[in-house]
Amino acid sequence: MLERNLVSLIYVSKKVLGSDEDEHIVAVATARNRALDVTGALASTVSNYAQILEGSAFALTELMGSIERDDRHSEVRILREGSIHRRVFPNWTMAYAGPSSYMSNQVSNLISRESDTLTLRINQFVRILSGLAHT
Ligand SMILES: Cc1cc2nc3c(=O)[nH]c(=O)nc-3n(C[C@H](O)[C@H](O)[C@H](O)COP(=O)(O)O)c2cc1C
Repeated sequence: MLERNLVSLIYVSKKVLGSDEDEHIVAVATARNRALDVTGALASTVSNYAQILEGSAFALTELMGSIERDDRHSEVRILREGSIHRRVFPNWTMAYAGPSSYMSNQVSNLISRESDTLTLRINQFVRILSGLAHT
């Protein structure tokens, strides 16, 4: 469905070691994202998070305020933020991909600092997560 004023944001962060909170994060995220009409996906590895959020600019500003303050992770780095017309995760208040060597590879690919291939790597990551969310 085409939507007006839709924004997509993707960030990466460093997991605070010893934090085993994913289940809890997803439970809270599912409820609050539904209320804010936000959709997206969260990838979690042993050392990092990567998250894609889609919703109104207002909702994403609200959410990112909370997320950036959250001490279960640090060094939140927004890789891309911009308008989209259609959601990639229309049916997911928060799709979740837990730690695996596959996901670790994907996320370390994403957080590499080589800026010339960033767009390509972001697109690839979004595609992979949307593929997982649709199986
Ligand atoms: C990696 C990570 C991803 C999160 N994603 C979401 C999310 O998508 N939606 C959400 O409501 N909370 C998410 N949270 C939890 C928020 O940071 C926060 O705890 C929660 O929204 C409650 O907000 P408040 O502390 O401002 O009351 C996430 C936390 C972490 C560490």
